[in-house]
Amino acid sequence: MKVTVVGAGAVGASCAEYIAIKNFAEEVVLIDIKEGYAEGKAMDLMQTASLNGFDTKVVGTTGDYTKTANSDVAVITSGIPRKPGMTREELIGINAGIVKEVAGNILKHSPEAIIIVVSNPMDTMAYLVHKSTDLPKNKVIGMGGALDSARFKYRLAEAIGCPSILIRRENATSSRRNKSRWSNTY
Ligand SMILES: NC(=O)c1ccc[n+]([C@@H]2O[C@H](COP(=O)([O-])OP(=O)(O)OC[C@H]3O[C@@H](n4cnc5c(N)ncnc54)[C@H](O)[C@@H]3O)[C@@H](O)[C@H]2O)c1
Repeated sequence: MKVTVVGAGAVGASCAEYIAIKNFAEEVVLIDIKEGYAEGKAMDLMQTASLNGFDTKVVGTTGDYTKTANSDVAVITSGIPRKPGMTREELIGINAGIVKEVAGNILKHSPEAIIIVVSNPMDTMAYLVHKSTDLPKNKVIGMGGALDSARFKYRLAEAIGCPSILIRRENATSSRRNKSRWSNTY
């Protein structure tokens, strides 16, 4: 599998690293508009391959979409993040233009790609990609709910005083696994 990650900032670089460490893909292409930025992030990641035990090839590029050709999945993280006091919706003016242009560029070189939208306001941006590209809705996925659930679990775990991984829907297997360590405490 080949994955393109657009935007090599905080979210994009983490996304590329996670994909590599999990060995989800043979190749990850990181692309950004800042000169040399994605190339640098890709090199940093490749230099951790022996430490993290992955053989995913991570490639960085400044705006060259030919390197993203034939991606199966493209993750859009490009745009600006919120500054203190801003709502996600206030990002729309800038990020809508970026996301629309990026989606068009991706599909020019990877017409079969599934697009995962992370840029905020995420729901609006995912809808924009769906409408502006004519991609069927099952090929445009917004990423946000998983993070909200993870944050909620973290807060619950903090309040209870247990590890976040224990906050989940219980089933027989997970109950048995956690019982010995935590049953005397909670
Ligand atoms: N959906 C979620 O759960 C979630 C979580 C965190 C952040 N976000 C959103 O993700 C986005 C990225 O956040 P971040 O913290 O990584 O920001 P960041 O500023 O660290 O990185 C954004 C990157 O996008 C690049 N960029 C801008 N325009 C571009 C273009 N046309 N083509 C390619 N690259 C371009 C910038 O150069 C920058 O490197 C923000 O909109 C943020 O609000 C969403």
